[in-house]
Amino acid sequence: MSQHDPFIDQLQDFLEYKKEEGFQTLEISPETLTALRPAPVAKHAPAPKVPAAARPSARPAPPAATPAPAKSTVNVTGKTLDEIAGQIRTCSACPLNASRKNTVPGEGNPNRPDILFIGDAPGPKEDAEGRFFVSEAGQLLDKMIIAMGYTRADVFITNIVKCRPPENRVPLTEEMIACTPYLKAQIALIQPKIIVALGKTAVEGLLDEKVAITRLRGTWKTYEGIDLMPTFHPGYLLKVPAKKREVWADLQAVLAKLGKEPPAKK
Ligand code: URA
Repeated sequence: MSQHDPFIDQLQDFLEYKKEEGFQTLEISPETLTALRPAPVAKHAPAPKVPAAARPSARPAPPAATPAPAKSTVNVTGKTLDEIAGQIRTCSACPLNASRKNTVPGEGNPNRPDILFIGDAPGPKEDAEGRFFVSEAGQLLDKMIIAMGYTRADVFITNIVKCRPPENRVPLTEEMIACTPYLKAQIALIQPKIIVALGKTAVEGLLDEKVAITRLRGTWKTYEGIDLMPTFHPGYLLKVPAKKREVWADLQAVLAKLGKEPPAKK
């Protein structure tokens, strides 16, 4: 039997992520393949085939260099959301602190909101402004929130990882592990009634397992005893608008659990 090669897992993750982002064909550059390779492969493992006309990918995959801490070194001492945000601001528990411009702790209604939305990590705009979901995907998230009958101020929004991964890449597992204590502390304070996890990376960060978001979305899970609805990321919906229908079904299920109905269309 062939030896387990972590490269295959990384490659599978990368391809699933790209699929989730809406890519239907993909050329992978030798640089990306090198970055995907987490460790030397078994002696006789076949070398991956690289297309001759390979070009750099649009969203680089995680580099392999950082060793994975199995446990976070973060000890959250903040007793309020502001204190936690202050602690995040000076956090150096993972290498993302070196490249970030701003930390993005999250924002919204801190008092038992109906919904806590959780994305994956800040993008370039969020990093530059230190504000949450200000990109095009964020604007779509706003529309989703309004369609449900809320405003941004009614719900809370945060990410699994509070600092931007360089070059807009997917957060590494170890970065998610490092940052999780902040999220747990935020959730303990906010006490949301329902969590909506946006996209594969957010769901994986919360459930601590590999998932196929296309299969998992729309099925109830729990996180820290709170009902969790996995759905697609708004960034994916920008690329594959046809999936909005499924997300709307997921959000309607959330409203139904809260005993609410979407507002009538004007
Ligand atoms: N995507 C996310 O998941 N979070 C952000 O803050 C921005 C884009």
